[in-house]
Amino acid sequence: MRDDNGPSQPQQKDLFADLERRREEAAQGGGPERIERQHEKDKLTARERLDILLDDGSFEELGAFVRHQVSDFGLDEKRPYGDGVVTGYGTIEGRLVYVFSQDFTVFGGSLGRAHADKIVQIMELALQNGAPVIGLNDSGGARIQEGVVSLGGYADIFKLNTDASGVVPQISAVMGPCAGGAVYSPAITDFTFMVEGTSYMFVTGPNVVKTVTQEDVTSEELGGAAAHASKSGVAHVTCANDVDCLLRLRELVGYLPANCEEPPPRAAGNRASSFDAEELNTLVPPAPNKPYDMHDVIRRISDDGDFFEIQPDYARNLIVGFTRLDGHPVGVVANQPAVLAGVLDIDASLKGARFVRFCDAFNIPLLIFEDVPGFLPGTDQEWNGIIKHGAKLLYALCEATVPKVTVITRKAYGGAYDVMNSKHIGGDLNFAWPTAEIAVMGPKGAVEIIYRRQIQQADDPEAKKDAFIEQYREKFANPYVAAEYGYVDDVIKPSATRRRLIRGFDMLRNKVVNAPPKKHGNIPL
Ligand code: HXC
Repeated sequence: MRDDNGPSQPQQKDLFADLERRREEAAQGGGPERIERQHEKDKLTARERLDILLDDGSFEELGAFVRHQVSDFGLDEKRPYGDGVVTGYGTIEGRLVYVFSQDFTVFGGSLGRAHADKIVQIMELALQNGAPVIGLNDSGGARIQEGVVSLGGYADIFKLNTDASGVVPQISAVMGPCAGGAVYSPAITDFTFMVEGTSYMFVTGPNVVKTVTQEDVTSEELGGAAAHASKSGVAHVTCANDVDCLLRLRELVGYLPANCEEPPPRAAGNRASSFDAEELNTLVPPAPNKPYDMHDVIRRISDDGDFFEIQPDYARNLIVGFTRLDGHPVGVVANQPAVLAGVLDIDASLKGARFVRFCDAFNIPLLIFEDVPGFLPGTDQEWNGIIKHGAKLLYALCEATVPKVTVITRKAYGGAYDVMNSKHIGGDLNFAWPTAEIAVMGPKGAVEIIYRRQIQQADDPEAKKDAFIEQYREKFANPYVAAEYGYVDDVIKPSATRRRLIRGFDMLRNKVVNAPPKKHGNIPL
Protein backbone atom coordinates (compact mmCIF):
# COMPACT_ATOMS: atom_id res chain seq x y z
CA MET A 1 0.00 0.00 0.00
CA ARG A 2 1.32 3.48 -0.98
CA ASP A 3 -0.06 6.93 -0.87
CA ASP A 4 1.27 10.27 -2.09
CA ASN A 5 3.12 10.93 1.16
CA GLY A 6 5.66 8.19 0.63
CA PRO A 7 6.09 4.63 1.88
CA SER A 8 3.15 2.74 3.20
CA GLN A 9 1.72 3.80 6.60
CA PRO A 10 0.44 1.05 8.90
CA GLN A 11 -3.30 1.07 9.39
CA GLN A 12 -4.36 2.42 12.78
CA LYS A 13 -5.57 -1.02 13.81
CA ASP A 14 -2.09 -2.41 13.12
CA LEU A 15 -0.61 0.21 15.43
CA PHE A 16 -3.00 -0.83 18.15
CA ALA A 17 -2.30 -4.48 17.54
CA ASP A 18 1.42 -3.74 17.74
CA LEU A 19 0.89 -1.94 21.05
CA GLU A 20 -1.09 -4.87 22.38
CA ARG A 21 1.57 -7.34 21.25
CA ARG A 22 4.29 -5.36 22.97
CA ARG A 23 2.20 -4.97 26.12
CA GLU A 24 1.58 -8.70 26.11
CA GLU A 25 5.31 -9.32 25.74
CA ALA A 26 6.03 -6.99 28.66
CA ALA A 27 3.43 -8.75 30.79
CA GLN A 28 5.10 -12.10 30.14
CA GLY A 29 8.24 -11.07 32.06
CA GLY A 30 10.76 -13.87 31.78
CA GLY A 31 8.29 -16.13 29.94
CA PRO A 32 6.13 -19.11 30.90
CA GLU A 33 9.00 -21.40 31.89
CA ARG A 34 10.46 -19.00 34.42
CA ILE A 35 6.98 -18.12 35.69
CA GLU A 36 6.43 -21.84 36.23
CA ARG A 37 9.67 -22.02 38.18
CA GLN A 38 8.57 -19.06 40.31
CA HIS A 39 5.29 -20.81 41.11
CA GLU A 40 7.11 -24.05 41.94
CA LYS A 41 8.96 -22.14 44.64
CA ASP A 42 5.57 -21.08 46.12
CA LYS A 43 6.18 -17.54 44.92
CA LEU A 44 3.79 -15.38 42.92
CA THR A 45 5.02 -13.28 40.01
CA ALA A 46 5.58 -9.55 40.29
CA ARG A 47 2.26 -8.80 38.58
CA GLU A 48 0.25 -11.40 40.47
CA ARG A 49 1.51 -9.80 43.67
CA LEU A 50 0.38 -6.34 42.60
CA ASP A 51 -3.04 -7.75 41.70
CA ILE A 52 -3.51 -8.85 45.31
CA LEU A 53 -1.88 -5.82 46.92
CA LEU A 54 -3.91 -3.18 45.08
CA ASP A 55 -7.64 -2.57 44.73
CA ASP A 56 -9.10 -4.37 41.71
CA GLY A 57 -8.32 -2.58 38.47
CA SER A 58 -6.55 0.32 40.20
CA PHE A 59 -2.99 -0.36 39.03
CA GLU A 60 -1.56 2.07 36.50
CA GLU A 61 1.79 0.91 35.20
CA LEU A 62 4.62 3.23 34.24
CA GLY A 63 7.70 2.31 32.23
CA ALA A 64 6.40 -1.02 30.94
CA PHE A 65 8.50 -0.58 27.79
CA VAL A 66 11.73 0.46 29.48
CA ARG A 67 14.71 -1.66 28.42
CA HIS A 68 18.36 -1.58 29.40
CA GLN A 69 20.90 -0.09 26.98
CA VAL A 70 23.78 -2.44 27.85
CA SER A 71 25.71 -4.50 25.32
CA ASP A 72 28.41 -6.13 27.49
CA PHE A 73 28.31 -9.86 28.23
CA GLY A 74 25.82 -10.41 25.39
CA LEU A 75 23.11 -8.42 27.10
CA ASP A 76 22.25 -6.74 23.79
CA GLU A 77 20.71 -10.09 22.83
CA LYS A 78 18.42 -10.00 25.89
CA ARG A 79 16.47 -6.80 26.32
CA PRO A 80 13.18 -7.72 27.99
CA TYR A 81 10.57 -5.02 28.44
CA GLY A 82 10.34 -3.67 31.97
CA ASP A 83 13.92 -4.61 32.88
CA GLY A 84 12.90 -6.85 35.76
CA VAL A 85 10.68 -4.54 37.76
CA VAL A 86 7.02 -3.56 37.48
CA THR A 87 6.37 -0.01 38.70
CA GLY A 88 3.42 2.33 38.98
CA TYR A 89 0.67 3.44 41.29
CA GLY A 90 -2.72 2.25 42.45
CA THR A 91 -4.97 2.30 45.48
CA ILE A 92 -5.47 0.37 48.71
CA GLU A 93 -9.00 0.84 50.07
CA GLY A 94 -9.26 3.76 47.66
CA ARG A 95 -6.10 5.51 48.91
CA LEU A 96 -3.16 6.23 46.60
CA VAL A 97 0.08 4.23 46.94
CA TYR A 98 3.17 4.00 44.75
CA VAL A 99 4.56 0.54 44.14
CA PHE A 100 7.45 -1.35 42.64
CA SER A 101 7.53 -5.11 42.31
CA GLN A 102 10.73 -6.85 41.29
CA ASP A 103 10.31 -9.58 38.71
CA PHE A 104 12.57 -12.53 39.54
CA THR A 105 11.75 -14.13 36.18
CA VAL A 106 13.76 -11.39 34.41
CA PHE A 107 17.51 -11.51 35.14
CA GLY A 108 16.65 -12.86 38.58
CA GLY A 109 15.09 -9.48 39.44
CA SER A 110 18.63 -8.08 39.49
CA LEU A 111 19.01 -4.32 39.57
CA GLY A 112 20.66 -2.55 36.65
CA ARG A 113 20.53 1.12 35.63
CA ALA A 114 17.16 1.02 33.87
CA HIS A 115 15.61 -1.05 36.69
CA ALA A 116 16.93 1.41 39.29
CA ASP A 117 15.69 4.42 37.31
CA LYS A 118 12.17 3.00 37.33
CA ILE A 119 12.23 2.65 41.12
CA VAL A 120 13.73 6.14 41.46
CA GLN A 121 10.90 7.58 39.37
CA ILE A 122 8.28 5.98 41.63
CA MET A 123 9.97 7.23 44.76
CA GLU A 124 10.27 10.76 43.42
CA LEU A 125 6.59 10.78 42.48
CA ALA A 126 5.69 9.51 45.94
CA LEU A 127 7.75 12.24 47.59
CA GLN A 128 6.37 15.02 45.40
CA ASN A 129 2.76 13.87 45.74
CA GLY A 130 2.83 12.68 49.33
CA ALA A 131 1.76 9.04 49.30
CA PRO A 132 3.31 5.82 50.64
CA VAL A 133 5.80 3.72 48.68
CA ILE A 134 5.56 -0.05 48.86
CA GLY A 135 8.44 -2.09 47.44
CA LEU A 136 8.07 -5.82 46.76
CA ASN A 137 11.63 -7.14 46.72
CA ASP A 138 12.61 -10.36 44.95
CA SER A 139 16.05 -9.91 43.48
CA GLY A 140 19.50 -11.43 42.98
CA GLY A 141 20.92 -7.99 43.85
CA ALA A 142 23.19 -5.79 41.79
CA ARG A 143 23.10 -6.85 38.11
CA ILE A 144 26.52 -8.33 37.78
CA GLN A 145 26.92 -7.49 34.07
CA GLU A 146 26.33 -3.78 34.75
CA GLY A 147 28.98 -3.53 37.45
CA VAL A 148 29.42 -0.19 39.18
CA VAL A 149 26.47 1.30 37.31
CA SER A 150 24.13 -0.97 39.23
CA LEU A 151 25.86 -0.08 42.50
CA GLY A 152 25.16 3.56 41.61
CA GLY A 153 21.51 2.65 41.06
CA TYR A 154 21.29 1.18 44.56
CA ALA A 155 22.91 4.26 46.04
CA ASP A 156 20.35 6.49 44.28
CA ILE A 157 17.61 4.44 45.94
CA PHE A 158 19.25 4.57 49.38
CA LYS A 159 19.50 8.36 49.11
CA LEU A 160 15.84 8.66 48.16
CA ASN A 161 14.82 6.24 50.94
CA THR A 162 16.57 8.59 53.33
CA ASP A 163 15.07 11.75 51.80
CA ALA A 164 11.61 10.18 51.99
CA SER A 165 12.10 8.99 55.57
CA GLY A 166 9.58 10.79 57.75
CA VAL A 167 7.90 12.37 54.70
CA VAL A 168 5.91 9.42 53.32
CA PRO A 169 5.55 5.95 54.82
CA GLN A 170 7.87 3.46 53.14
CA ILE A 171 7.18 -0.25 53.41
CA SER A 172 9.30 -3.11 52.09
CA ALA A 173 8.22 -6.67 51.55
CA VAL A 174 11.04 -9.15 51.04
CA MET A 175 9.51 -11.97 49.00
CA GLY A 176 12.62 -13.73 47.72
CA PRO A 177 16.36 -13.14 47.92
CA CYS A 178 17.68 -9.83 49.20
CA ALA A 179 21.43 -9.94 49.64
CA GLY A 180 24.50 -7.75 49.88
CA GLY A 181 24.06 -4.00 49.91
CA ALA A 182 20.53 -4.51 48.57
CA VAL A 183 19.39 -5.13 52.15
CA TYR A 184 19.97 -1.50 53.02
CA SER A 185 16.98 -0.16 51.16
CA PRO A 186 14.49 -2.24 53.21
CA ALA A 187 16.55 -1.44 56.30
CA ILE A 188 16.05 2.30 55.83
CA THR A 189 12.33 1.98 55.13
CA ASP A 190 9.83 2.10 57.98
CA PHE A 191 8.65 -1.52 57.95
CA THR A 192 10.06 -4.74 56.51
CA PHE A 193 7.79 -7.70 55.88
CA MET A 194 9.26 -11.16 55.16
CA VAL A 195 7.68 -14.33 53.83
CA GLU A 196 8.45 -17.52 55.76
CA GLY A 197 10.45 -20.11 53.83
CA THR A 198 10.91 -18.15 50.59
CA SER A 199 12.65 -14.94 51.59
CA TYR A 200 16.03 -14.23 53.06
CA MET A 201 18.18 -11.20 53.78
CA PHE A 202 21.87 -11.07 54.56
CA VAL A 203 24.85 -8.83 53.95
CA THR A 204 27.02 -11.83 53.09
CA GLY A 205 25.67 -15.28 52.23
CA PRO A 206 26.48 -18.71 53.66
CA ASN A 207 29.51 -19.27 51.38
CA VAL A 208 31.25 -16.10 52.47
CA VAL A 209 30.34 -16.80 56.08
CA LYS A 210 31.93 -20.26 55.77
CA THR A 211 35.12 -18.80 54.28
CA VAL A 212 35.50 -16.03 56.83
CA THR A 213 34.22 -17.56 60.05
CA GLN A 214 34.17 -21.31 59.25
CA GLU A 215 30.52 -21.41 60.32
CA ASP A 216 28.18 -23.79 58.52
CA VAL A 217 24.85 -22.13 58.13
CA THR A 218 22.01 -22.32 55.61
CA SER A 219 20.42 -19.26 53.96
CA GLU A 220 17.29 -19.85 55.99
CA GLU A 221 19.18 -20.07 59.29
CA LEU A 222 21.31 -17.07 58.47
CA GLY A 223 18.72 -14.69 57.11
CA GLY A 224 15.30 -16.31 56.81
CA ALA A 225 12.13 -14.73 58.15
CA ALA A 226 12.37 -16.55 61.48
CA ALA A 227 15.93 -15.36 62.13
CA HIS A 228 15.07 -11.75 61.37
CA ALA A 229 11.80 -11.87 63.29
CA SER A 230 13.23 -13.23 66.51
CA LYS A 231 17.00 -12.67 66.57
CA SER A 232 17.94 -9.53 64.63
CA GLY A 233 14.68 -7.59 64.70
CA VAL A 234 15.19 -6.68 61.03
CA ALA A 235 11.77 -8.11 60.08
CA HIS A 236 8.78 -6.26 61.50
CA VAL A 237 6.14 -8.63 60.19
CA THR A 238 6.53 -12.24 59.03
CA CYS A 239 3.93 -13.87 56.83
CA ALA A 240 3.00 -17.46 56.00
CA ASN A 241 3.06 -16.95 52.22
CA ASP A 242 2.87 -14.30 49.49
CA VAL A 243 -0.90 -13.83 49.73
CA ASP A 244 -0.77 -13.43 53.50
CA CYS A 245 2.03 -10.89 53.10
CA LEU A 246 0.15 -8.78 50.56
CA LEU A 247 -3.05 -8.79 52.60
CA ARG A 248 -1.16 -7.78 55.72
CA LEU A 249 0.51 -4.93 53.79
CA ARG A 250 -2.98 -3.69 52.91
CA GLU A 251 -3.97 -3.93 56.54
CA LEU A 252 -0.97 -1.90 57.74
CA VAL A 253 -1.55 0.84 55.16
CA GLY A 254 -5.03 1.29 56.66
CA TYR A 255 -3.46 2.67 59.85
CA LEU A 256 -1.12 5.14 58.15
CA PRO A 257 -1.57 8.66 56.84
CA ALA A 258 -0.49 9.34 53.26
CA ASN A 259 2.29 11.63 54.42
CA CYS A 260 3.68 13.55 57.40
CA GLU A 261 1.30 16.46 56.93
CA GLU A 262 -1.90 14.45 57.15
CA PRO A 263 -3.64 12.88 60.13
CA PRO A 264 -3.96 9.10 60.10
CA PRO A 265 -7.20 7.89 58.48
CA ARG A 266 -10.24 7.32 60.69
CA ALA A 267 -11.72 3.91 59.94
CA ALA A 268 -15.35 3.38 59.16
CA GLY A 269 -16.53 -0.08 60.23
CA ASN A 270 -16.91 -1.29 63.78
CA ARG A 271 -15.85 1.31 66.32
CA ALA A 272 -17.07 -0.57 69.36
CA SER A 273 -15.17 -2.83 71.70
CA SER A 274 -16.02 -6.50 71.44
CA PHE A 275 -15.32 -7.12 75.14
CA ASP A 276 -17.11 -6.54 78.40
CA ALA A 277 -15.17 -3.68 80.01
CA GLU A 278 -15.66 -5.22 83.48
CA GLU A 279 -13.27 -8.03 82.50
CA LEU A 280 -10.41 -5.55 82.87
CA ASN A 281 -11.11 -5.08 86.57
CA THR A 282 -9.83 -8.55 87.43
CA LEU A 283 -7.05 -8.85 84.88
CA VAL A 284 -4.11 -7.74 87.02
CA PRO A 285 -3.40 -10.49 89.57
CA PRO A 286 -3.29 -9.38 93.22
CA ALA A 287 0.20 -10.89 93.73
CA PRO A 288 2.72 -8.34 92.41
CA ASN A 289 5.01 -10.96 90.88
CA LYS A 290 2.33 -12.92 89.05
CA PRO A 291 2.41 -12.35 85.30
CA TYR A 292 -0.51 -11.50 83.04
CA ASP A 293 -0.60 -10.93 79.30
CA MET A 294 -0.66 -7.24 78.35
CA HIS A 295 -2.19 -8.26 74.98
CA ASP A 296 -5.37 -8.92 76.96
CA VAL A 297 -5.42 -5.30 78.08
CA ILE A 298 -4.69 -3.94 74.59
CA ARG A 299 -7.36 -6.03 72.88
CA ARG A 300 -9.95 -5.16 75.50
CA ILE A 301 -9.59 -1.42 75.02
CA SER A 302 -9.32 -1.56 71.18
CA ASP A 303 -12.05 -1.17 68.59
CA ASP A 304 -13.28 -4.67 67.82
CA GLY A 305 -10.26 -6.16 69.62
CA ASP A 306 -8.00 -5.42 66.63
CA PHE A 307 -4.28 -5.04 67.11
CA PHE A 308 -1.65 -4.99 64.34
CA GLU A 309 1.45 -6.05 66.18
CA ILE A 310 4.92 -5.04 64.97
CA GLN A 311 7.90 -7.32 65.73
CA PRO A 312 5.80 -9.73 67.84
CA ASP A 313 8.68 -12.23 68.18
CA TYR A 314 11.48 -9.78 68.93
CA ALA A 315 12.04 -8.33 72.41
CA ARG A 316 8.76 -9.84 73.54
CA ASN A 317 9.07 -8.01 76.86
CA LEU A 318 7.82 -4.90 75.05
CA ILE A 319 4.75 -4.92 72.80
CA VAL A 320 4.38 -2.36 70.00
CA GLY A 321 1.76 -2.05 67.29
CA PHE A 322 -1.26 -0.25 65.92
CA THR A 323 -4.79 -0.26 67.14
CA ARG A 324 -7.83 2.00 66.80
CA LEU A 325 -9.88 3.86 69.35
CA ASP A 326 -13.25 5.03 68.04
CA GLY A 327 -11.86 4.57 64.53
CA HIS A 328 -8.71 6.65 65.11
CA PRO A 329 -5.34 4.89 64.71
CA VAL A 330 -3.14 4.84 67.81
CA GLY A 331 0.39 3.49 68.28
CA VAL A 332 0.66 1.28 71.36
CA VAL A 333 3.87 0.77 73.35
CA ALA A 334 3.37 -1.61 76.26
CA ASN A 335 5.53 -3.44 78.77
CA GLN A 336 4.74 -7.15 78.74
CA PRO A 337 4.76 -8.54 82.30
CA ALA A 338 4.38 -12.06 80.91
CA VAL A 339 7.93 -11.95 79.42
CA LEU A 340 10.92 -11.19 81.69
CA ALA A 341 8.43 -9.40 83.95
CA GLY A 342 8.25 -6.63 81.35
CA VAL A 343 11.79 -5.42 82.08
CA LEU A 344 13.39 -2.95 79.66
CA ASP A 345 16.52 -4.27 77.97
CA ILE A 346 18.56 -3.29 74.91
CA ASP A 347 16.34 -4.98 72.34
CA ALA A 348 13.13 -3.65 73.88
CA SER A 349 14.57 -0.14 73.93
CA LEU A 350 15.54 -0.33 70.25
CA LYS A 351 12.17 -1.76 69.28
CA GLY A 352 10.25 0.85 71.24
CA ALA A 353 12.35 3.81 70.11
CA ARG A 354 12.03 3.04 66.41
CA PHE A 355 8.27 2.58 66.71
CA VAL A 356 7.77 5.77 68.71
CA ARG A 357 9.74 7.77 66.14
CA PHE A 358 7.64 6.33 63.31
CA CYS A 359 4.39 7.27 65.05
CA ASP A 360 5.66 10.74 65.87
CA ALA A 361 6.82 11.33 62.29
CA PHE A 362 3.38 10.41 60.97
CA ASN A 363 1.06 12.07 63.51
CA ILE A 364 -0.08 8.82 65.10
CA PRO A 365 -0.91 9.39 68.80
CA LEU A 366 0.90 7.20 71.30
CA LEU A 367 -0.65 5.08 74.03
CA ILE A 368 1.73 3.66 76.63
CA PHE A 369 0.74 0.81 78.94
CA GLU A 370 3.18 0.54 81.79
CA ASP A 371 4.07 -2.35 84.05
CA VAL A 372 7.83 -2.28 84.32
CA PRO A 373 10.17 -3.35 87.13
CA GLY A 374 13.11 -1.35 85.70
CA PHE A 375 16.04 -1.91 83.35
CA LEU A 376 17.61 -5.38 83.08
CA PRO A 377 20.77 -5.67 85.21
CA GLY A 378 23.94 -7.55 84.19
CA THR A 379 27.29 -7.34 82.44
CA ASP A 380 25.78 -8.46 79.15
CA GLN A 381 23.42 -5.49 79.13
CA GLU A 382 25.93 -2.97 80.47
CA TRP A 383 28.77 -3.97 78.16
CA ASN A 384 26.50 -4.01 75.16
CA GLY A 385 25.32 -0.52 75.93
CA ILE A 386 22.00 -0.53 77.76
CA ILE A 387 22.91 3.05 78.71
CA LYS A 388 23.03 4.35 75.15
CA HIS A 389 20.27 2.03 73.88
CA GLY A 390 17.91 2.72 76.75
CA ALA A 391 18.55 6.39 76.08
CA LYS A 392 17.10 5.93 72.59
CA LEU A 393 13.68 5.04 73.98
CA LEU A 394 13.90 7.89 76.48
CA TYR A 395 14.96 10.33 73.75
CA ALA A 396 12.27 9.15 71.33
CA LEU A 397 9.50 9.63 73.88
CA CYS A 398 10.87 12.98 75.07
CA GLU A 399 11.08 14.18 71.48
CA ALA A 400 7.65 12.97 70.33
CA THR A 401 5.13 15.79 69.98
CA VAL A 402 2.07 13.70 69.08
CA PRO A 403 -0.59 13.22 71.81
CA LYS A 404 0.91 10.84 74.37
CA VAL A 405 -1.20 9.06 76.97
CA THR A 406 0.06 6.65 79.66
CA VAL A 407 -1.82 4.03 81.65
CA ILE A 408 0.13 2.54 84.58
CA THR A 409 -1.42 -0.85 85.23
CA ARG A 410 0.98 -2.06 87.92
CA LYS A 411 4.71 -1.39 88.38
CA ALA A 412 6.34 1.88 87.44
CA TYR A 413 9.75 1.65 89.02
CA GLY A 414 12.92 3.66 88.85
CA GLY A 415 14.31 5.15 85.67
CA ALA A 416 11.81 3.10 83.73
CA TYR A 417 9.03 5.16 85.38
CA ASP A 418 10.55 8.29 83.86
CA VAL A 419 11.21 6.67 80.48
CA MET A 420 7.77 5.17 79.93
CA ASN A 421 6.15 8.48 79.05
CA SER A 422 5.99 10.02 82.50
CA LYS A 423 4.40 13.46 82.72
CA HIS A 424 7.87 14.88 83.30
CA ILE A 425 8.95 13.96 79.75
CA GLY A 426 5.76 15.12 78.11
CA GLY A 427 2.97 12.66 78.83
CA ASP A 428 -0.22 14.62 78.15
CA LEU A 429 -2.54 12.43 80.18
CA ASN A 430 -1.21 9.94 82.68
CA PHE A 431 -3.65 7.54 84.25
CA ALA A 432 -2.99 4.84 86.84
CA TRP A 433 -5.10 1.88 87.82
CA PRO A 434 -5.60 1.37 91.57
CA THR A 435 -3.18 -1.59 91.24
CA ALA A 436 -0.32 0.76 90.28
CA GLU A 437 2.90 0.82 92.29
CA ILE A 438 4.99 3.91 91.59
CA ALA A 439 8.35 4.02 93.36
CA VAL A 440 12.10 4.20 92.96
CA MET A 441 12.24 0.43 93.23
CA GLY A 442 10.26 -2.60 94.44
CA PRO A 443 9.60 -2.94 98.20
CA LYS A 444 12.08 -5.80 98.82
CA GLY A 445 15.04 -4.13 97.10
CA ALA A 446 14.22 -0.82 98.74
CA VAL A 447 14.10 -2.05 102.36
CA GLU A 448 17.25 -4.13 101.90
CA ILE A 449 19.06 -0.89 101.11
CA ILE A 450 17.51 1.66 103.41
CA TYR A 451 17.00 -0.63 106.44
CA ARG A 452 20.00 -2.94 106.01
CA ARG A 453 21.51 -2.14 109.37
CA GLN A 454 18.21 -2.36 111.27
CA ILE A 455 17.44 -5.71 109.64
CA GLN A 456 20.91 -7.13 110.43
CA GLN A 457 20.67 -6.04 114.06
CA ALA A 458 17.14 -7.34 114.64
CA ASP A 459 16.48 -10.46 116.75
CA ASP A 460 14.47 -11.90 113.89
CA PRO A 461 15.87 -10.29 110.70
CA GLU A 462 13.33 -11.93 108.36
CA ALA A 463 10.35 -10.78 110.42
CA LYS A 464 11.84 -7.30 110.65
CA LYS A 465 12.37 -7.21 106.90
CA ASP A 466 8.80 -8.32 106.24
CA ALA A 467 7.51 -5.58 108.50
CA PHE A 468 9.58 -2.96 106.68
CA ILE A 469 8.39 -4.31 103.30
CA GLU A 470 4.78 -4.02 104.41
CA GLN A 471 5.39 -0.49 105.65
CA TYR A 472 7.08 0.51 102.38
CA ARG A 473 4.34 -1.11 100.31
CA GLU A 474 1.69 0.87 102.15
CA LYS A 475 3.57 4.11 101.64
CA PHE A 476 4.75 3.79 98.04
CA ALA A 477 3.27 0.75 96.31
CA ASN A 478 0.17 2.60 95.20
CA PRO A 479 -0.63 5.41 92.76
CA TYR A 480 -1.69 8.01 95.32
CA VAL A 481 1.66 9.53 96.23
CA ALA A 482 2.28 10.23 92.53
CA ALA A 483 -1.30 11.48 92.20
CA GLU A 484 -0.77 13.90 95.11
CA TYR A 485 2.09 15.48 93.19
CA GLY A 486 0.01 15.59 90.00
CA TYR A 487 2.35 13.08 88.36
CA VAL A 488 -0.69 11.02 87.44
CA ASP A 489 -3.76 12.91 86.31
CA ASP A 490 -6.26 10.42 87.63
CA VAL A 491 -6.58 7.00 89.18
CA ILE A 492 -9.17 5.15 87.14
CA LYS A 493 -11.02 1.87 87.31
CA PRO A 494 -9.66 -0.47 84.63
CA SER A 495 -13.15 -0.86 83.18
CA ALA A 496 -13.22 2.91 82.46
CA THR A 497 -9.97 2.82 80.49
CA ARG A 498 -11.33 2.65 76.95
CA ARG A 499 -13.82 5.45 77.57
CA ARG A 500 -11.20 7.67 79.23
CA LEU A 501 -8.71 7.03 76.41
CA ILE A 502 -11.20 7.86 73.67
CA ARG A 503 -12.16 11.11 75.39
CA GLY A 504 -8.54 11.92 76.20
CA PHE A 505 -7.28 11.45 72.66
CA ASP A 506 -10.26 13.46 71.35
CA MET A 507 -9.34 16.29 73.68
CA LEU A 508 -5.73 16.15 72.42
CA ARG A 509 -6.59 15.93 68.71
CA ASN A 510 -5.43 19.48 67.93
CA LYS A 511 -2.28 19.42 70.05
CA VAL A 512 0.47 21.72 68.78
CA VAL A 513 3.97 21.80 70.21
CA ASN A 514 6.48 24.39 69.11
CA ALA A 515 9.78 22.60 69.44
CA PRO A 516 12.91 24.76 69.63
CA PRO A 517 14.39 25.42 66.16
CA LYS A 518 17.27 23.12 65.25
CA LYS A 519 18.63 21.29 62.22
CA HIS A 520 18.03 17.92 63.83
CA GLY A 521 18.58 16.38 67.20
CA ASN A 522 21.34 13.90 67.95
CA ILE A 523 19.60 10.76 69.16
CA PRO A 524 22.19 8.52 70.90
CA LEU A 525 22.83 5.96 68.15
C1 HXC B 1 22.58 -10.83 36.99
C2 HXC B 1 21.46 -12.56 37.92
C3 HXC B 1 21.80 -12.12 39.21
C4 HXC B 1 22.60 -10.96 39.31
C5 HXC B 1 20.62 -13.89 39.42
N1 HXC B 1 20.71 -13.65 38.11
N2 HXC B 1 21.29 -12.96 40.11
N3 HXC B 1 21.83 -11.91 36.84
N4 HXC B 1 22.96 -10.34 38.16
N5 HXC B 1 22.96 -10.48 40.48
C6 HXC B 1 20.13 -14.44 37.03
C7 HXC B 1 20.77 -15.79 36.88
O1 HXC B 1 21.89 -15.68 36.06
C8 HXC B 1 19.66 -16.58 36.22
O2 HXC B 1 19.61 -16.22 34.87
C9 HXC B 1 18.41 -15.98 36.85
O3 HXC B 1 18.80 -14.72 37.38
C10 HXC B 1 17.89 -16.81 37.97
O4 HXC B 1 18.95 -17.11 38.84
P1 HXC B 1 19.21 -18.57 39.38
O5 HXC B 1 20.57 -18.58 39.94
O6 HXC B 1 18.89 -19.58 38.31
O7 HXC B 1 18.10 -18.67 40.49
P2 HXC B 1 18.19 -19.38 41.89
O8 HXC B 1 18.78 -20.75 41.77
O9 HXC B 1 16.84 -19.26 42.49
O10 HXC B 1 19.23 -18.51 42.74
C11 HXC B 1 18.93 -17.18 43.07
C12 HXC B 1 20.17 -16.50 43.68
C13 HXC B 1 21.36 -16.66 42.74
C14 HXC B 1 20.46 -17.13 45.02
C15 HXC B 1 19.77 -15.04 43.89
O11 HXC B 1 20.98 -16.29 41.41
C16 HXC B 1 22.51 -15.81 43.15
O12 HXC B 1 23.27 -16.14 44.06
N6 HXC B 1 22.70 -14.68 42.45
C17 HXC B 1 23.77 -13.77 42.71
C18 HXC B 1 23.54 -13.03 43.99
C19 HXC B 1 24.60 -12.02 44.23
O13 HXC B 1 25.73 -12.34 44.65
N7 HXC B 1 24.29 -10.76 43.91
C20 HXC B 1 25.13 -9.66 44.13
C21 HXC B 1 24.95 -9.31 45.61
S1 HXC B 1 25.88 -7.92 46.01
P3 HXC B 1 19.23 -17.30 33.74
O14 HXC B 1 19.26 -16.51 32.48
O15 HXC B 1 20.27 -18.36 33.83
O16 HXC B 1 17.89 -17.79 34.12
C22 HXC B 1 24.81 -6.71 45.73
C23 HXC B 1 25.42 -5.45 45.99
C24 HXC B 1 24.43 -4.37 46.13
O17 HXC B 1 23.72 -6.84 45.36
C25 HXC B 1 25.23 -3.22 46.60
C26 HXC B 1 24.48 -2.04 46.91
C27 HXC B 1 25.39 -1.06 47.59
